[in-house]
Amino acid sequence: MKIAPSILSADFAALADDIARVEAGLPDQLHVDVMDGRFVPNLTIGPVVVEAIRKRTRLPLDVHLMIVEPERYLADFVSAGADLVTVHAEACVHLQRALAQIRELGARAGVALNPSTPPDTLEYVLDDLDLVLVMSVNPGFGGQKFIPSAYAKLARVRAMLGARPIDVSVDGGVKVEHVRRLAAEGASIAVAGSAIFGAPDPAEAVRQMRAAAEK
Ligand code: DX5
Ligand code: ZN
Repeated sequence: MKIAPSILSADFAALADDIARVEAGLPDQLHVDVMDGRFVPNLTIGPVVVEAIRKRTRLPLDVHLMIVEPERYLADFVSAGADLVTVHAEACVHLQRALAQIRELGARAGVALNPSTPPDTLEYVLDDLDLVLVMSVNPGFGGQKFIPSAYAKLARVRAMLGARPIDVSVDGGVKVEHVRRLAAEGASIAVAGSAIFGAPDPAEAVRQMRAAAEK
């Protein structure tokens, strides 16, 4: 199981320090939540902040776009340093084109599904994908409660993917006690914001999460 701390719960006025603290726990990638106040009610950060983060860490940047018309910003986020760009299926009229664009730009392509969105929507883009992100909260805010229907969805997504080397990530309300079952249902990446940055020792929280998956 790979662990991806979400900087949404970090201290944005001391972001580089918080990233350094979490890096000490050897996470696999850093999850960056981009919100536009339209696809989700909240507003967060844009490409300039991704570019600033890129200069402070060597961890792969996993950029989760919770924005309408994400096609308009793909090039900006990739040139800012995103290694993986995830768009929401619900936000893309031409999902296949958006995924192909991300790959053409040289990044890996992900699709996120809101809790109510069925995985069937991915059936004809399976070969255009590097990651499926299963939301286990309605996106928009950190610190929400995990929605357990994500377990069955993870299993369904994993079955759909067959032998393809595609990551399956789970995002929202993930705590250490969920991780073992998430791994068993087929998740390969756990995203966690408040459970990591809200912990007294974020590096230790990363280590505990990874250990819980391996139990
Ligand atoms: C929710 C974001 C998540 C969020 C996770 O809209 O996509 O990445 O930061 O934070 P926690 O782990 O606190 O739910
Ligand atoms: Zn996210």
